[in-house]
Amino acid sequence: MRHLMGPLDFTAEELDKLFDLANDIEHNMAKYAHACDGKKLATCFYEPSTRTRLSFESAMLNLGGSVIGFSDAGSSSASKGESVSDTIRVISCFADICAMRHPKEGAPMVAASKSSIPVINAGDGGHQHPTQTLTDLLTIRSLKGKIENFTVGLCGDLKFGRTVHSLIHALMRYPDIHFIFISPEELKVPDYLTDMLKEKNIPYEEVIRLEEIMPSLDFLYMTRVQKERFFNEEDYVRLKDFYILDKPKMDLAKSDMLVLHPLPRVNEISVEIDDDPRAAYFKQVQYGVYVRMALILTLLEIQV
Ligand code: NCD
Repeated sequence: MRHLMGPLDFTAEELDKLFDLANDIEHNMAKYAHACDGKKLATCFYEPSTRTRLSFESAMLNLGGSVIGFSDAGSSSASKGESVSDTIRVISCFADICAMRHPKEGAPMVAASKSSIPVINAGDGGHQHPTQTLTDLLTIRSLKGKIENFTVGLCGDLKFGRTVHSLIHALMRYPDIHFIFISPEELKVPDYLTDMLKEKNIPYEEVIRLEEIMPSLDFLYMTRVQKERFFNEEDYVRLKDFYILDKPKMDLAKSDMLVLHPLPRVNEISVEIDDDPRAAYFKQVQYGVYVRMALILTLLEIQV
């Protein structure tokens, strides 16, 4: 039995197979409509979510399966003091697969160690968010036909953003990726990630101004300042509108540059660029459903 805890749990070859399956699902939805008949997904969300939880639920319903779960720790027995280990043992009796989001780093890993069903990490604190990364990679591969030889800008909260941490890990495995990290000093990428890049001789730059590097980017991955992970409100207020991607900045970018964002967006992308053909963040949401369908089938070892 396999779980998905981090973006490197699958080999690059396994990911290729997963993305091929996701693209097949995209073009032949009807073929998969009963693939999970009789199967249940449990969504155990101890932290707020719109996209990830509903994307998982939609994925399972598209496969003919059903969904149970909770979307708020307050409405689960966590509020009575139940441990994640006990909860997953119980959920294992009810469902065939579980997607778990938790504010504590490593909580889904603890759950996986006690679980008799596959557990998917749907985001653990400021640590990892592997299914968002699968979504990001599938979007890149589907829209550009490859995942290599790109200059990728990651902008915003690179310190607390788990989607950023997972994406950097995953992209390290592909050839000729040049990273440009764009953040204020206080929200820089953690040292453990830049140390890893140095060790692997993968080129990266760290800059503060977005304007100066816009012309060189193939992708711009914008992120929200992670309010819930700040220790004080004052710092958040000072940093929250540090970057706003607007039309004048988009005018500096290549004509085929793509803007990605895991969403939710707050102010960091002006709505005036939503209709720019380079804005790919809503397409990204759709790819998230296909890749989660492919992931559920893969972890349940169901072949169609
Ligand atoms: C992200 C998350 O939860 O980390 N959202 C998502 O799952 N698409 C990004 C965020 O909350 O900023």
